[in-house]
Amino acid sequence: MATDPLAWLDDELAGLEALGLRRRLATRAGPQTAAEIVLDGRRLVNFSSNDYLGLAASSLSKAVQEAVDQVGWGSGASPLVTGRGELHARLEEELAAFEKTEAALLFSSGYAANVGAIASLAGKGDVVFSDAKNHASIIDGCRVSGARIVVYPHRDASALESLLKQSREFRRRLIVTDALFSMDGDLAPLAELAELARSHEAMLMVDEAHATGVFGAAGRGVCEHLDVEDGVHIRVGTLSKALGSLGGFVAGRRSLIAWLANRARSYVFSTAPPEAMAAAGLEALRIVREEPHRRIELLQRAASLRDRLQRDGWNVGESQSQIIPLTIGDPQPTMQLSAALRERGFLAPGIRPPSVPEGESLLRLSLSYAHSPEQLEQLADAARNLRRVI
Ligand SMILES: Cc1ncc(COP(=O)(O)O)c(C=O)c1O
Repeated sequence: MATDPLAWLDDELAGLEALGLRRRLATRAGPQTAAEIVLDGRRLVNFSSNDYLGLAASSLSKAVQEAVDQVGWGSGASPLVTGRGELHARLEEELAAFEKTEAALLFSSGYAANVGAIASLAGKGDVVFSDAKNHASIIDGCRVSGARIVVYPHRDASALESLLKQSREFRRRLIVTDALFSMDGDLAPLAELAELARSHEAMLMVDEAHATGVFGAAGRGVCEHLDVEDGVHIRVGTLSKALGSLGGFVAGRRSLIAWLANRARSYVFSTAPPEAMAAAGLEALRIVREEPHRRIELLQRAASLRDRLQRDGWNVGESQSQIIPLTIGDPQPTMQLSAALRERGFLAPGIRPPSVPEGESLLRLSLSYAHSPEQLEQLADAARNLRRVI
């Protein structure tokens, strides 16, 4: 009898189970807010969301409904054909104004923005320098680009400098980094990277996915916060995290955006997202502009919680942001702690390989303006009472 060609899947899944690495899909009921989420029938305080400003279940919905009433839902085609509507164009203009760049291009996700941008800026004969803890979408962009990939140690500008010195034979150089690292909550050394890019004639691309709307006086991200915007050539952001919606964008000079619209395959060969999504983005940008207290208070509360967790003996690493890791190490105790917190009404996801390197499993606490200070205290109390579990 012929063997089942997919039988290996059961063996592989059993292997993941045995290692404590198998993931299962959860189902949420109703809206997701940071203050509360109903997951698999349980009501939980949600420390797993990237909805940092508490916008996902807010007035964005009204903006979406109005847009759907006007222009319907689907876009029907890729942007270069007939998929790009007036709301997309307006959002791109407003993103460029917000980012203080000449132009911006809207992608259907931050993932698509990273893959499309990297693979159209670097290719055979070029070299990409990528931080060891960059997001998977950056890694995938590097892989499909066909360029030589050089991974430099996490946030290590002097190691990068040595590697750049050996890169003369390549046609073009691209340095790419997360601005705010999604698992550890730490910041890239952008001033040093900008200086290295300048002195080695390299392009510098910074992914502000977790920082857009949160960092910087105007909410533009870590580049603004560290005052290095002029030294960064390609800025990537998402509408899907602090901006509470969906979609990614690249901002920069006009020629960069024109090149991406011609060459970024994830843009050219993919249907434009619904215009209603652009309406949500426009409303979110308005809130980011008009309600700076959201990001200010979020970062203040994050700093207080970090201090408290450190005093309680947790390893919060180098976090400087609203993302606070509790690094445990092995996946099993990490998942045990996550499960015990869940029993007590807190959703604090355990992150294990392959999302983080072996031995660096952690609980990722993601804070939102929508959390009350009391909820943060209650989480810290529950975690302290559970220290014996791990
Ligand atoms: C650093 C970083 N870049 C890009 C992305 C992808 O963004 P999106 O969720 O909009 O696809 C993520 C998402 O987790 C991320 O953490």
